[in-house]
Amino acid sequence: PYVITEACINVKDKSCVDVCPVDCIYEGPDQLFIQPDECIDCGACEPECPVTAIFPEEDVPANLKQYVQLNREAFNKE
Ligand code: SF4
Ligand code: F3S
Repeated sequence: PYVITEACINVKDKSCVDVCPVDCIYEGPDQLFIQPDECIDCGACEPECPVTAIFPEEDVPANLKQYVQLNREAFNKE
């Protein structure tokens, strides 16, 4: 799946939400998260983010790897 990382925090531009064909991007308290089991890897969201917060899971930079788990955990809490 695609992953939303640190740059989204307090930006929440939401351009990504508008283009996601399966509506799997959800708002959290500080940033938005992609539901990893719903994401179909279409890639539509990635170029839309003005702060480059979105990466395919395998391309998340090393210093942001914790966001892979943070996106997943955002949906485990419920
Ligand atoms: Fe939605 Fe596609 Fe982005 Fe996954 S890659 S979050 S399906 S727009
Ligand atoms: Fe956040 Fe970028 Fe989407 S700032 S809300 S990941 S367009």
